[in-house]
Amino acid sequence: MKLCVALDLPTANENLKLAKELKGYDIWLKVGFRTYIRDGKEFIYNLKEINPNFKIFLDLKLYDIPNTMADASEEIAKIGVDMFNIHASAGEVAMKMVMDRLSKFENRPLVLAVTALTSFDDDSFRKIYGKSIDEKAREFAIMSYQNGLDGVVCSTFESKEIKEATSGEFLTLCPAIRPFGEDAGDQKRVATIEVAEEELVDFPVVGRPIYRDTNPTQKVKEILSKIED
Ligand code: C5P
Repeated sequence: MKLCVALDLPTANENLKLAKELKGYDIWLKVGFRTYIRDGKEFIYNLKEINPNFKIFLDLKLYDIPNTMADASEEIAKIGVDMFNIHASAGEVAMKMVMDRLSKFENRPLVLAVTALTSFDDDSFRKIYGKSIDEKAREFAIMSYQNGLDGVVCSTFESKEIKEATSGEFLTLCPAIRPFGEDAGDQKRVATIEVAEEELVDFPVVGRPIYRDTNPTQKVKEILSKIED
């Protein structure tokens, strides 16, 4: 299991300050839409300058026609990030084209597919996808696995089932983690690190419980010692 810290602070300087505080740890950093649109690839280079061993997950959730997605994936690979994601609902042709385009890179980034956004409740999800979240997430995961992706973004509570339906090696990255039962905020189905371990989550994503803590470094240390237990 690898801890993935969401860099969701409002400015580049605040995110870089947090990254500097965490530079001694073996962690992944999640760079999202807002940060990337505002701070661009320079920001990624800045993170790697702070610690070249930081692993970067670029959370842009690509969704477009297959050729455009493949073009964008190639550009992402050139930046040198370690993982990025696409929407599973972009479909099998897009998945195949993305993976095919990345095959020319010696060290290609890992590619995950977003199954269901956690902001959906079952009714609103069904209106768009025609199935329950659980059922569709599993279907999307199998499709992603069959088309050569490395894993999915899913809820902690779907992780084990998805691995059973695909492979133990198929990665699951799960947001809404409250390591020690901290405030859930707007997240609905939250899980502790302990539960994430039971559910075989590969990447627990933690944002607010770390960056809103009075001592983020200490929090990361506690999470890592829980993971290593
Ligand atoms: O602060 P918190 O720990 O809730 O942050 C979770 C992170 O994971 C945020 O960056 C959020 O945008 C992201 N995320 C999510 N649910 C998804 C996909 C991404 O919470 N389905």
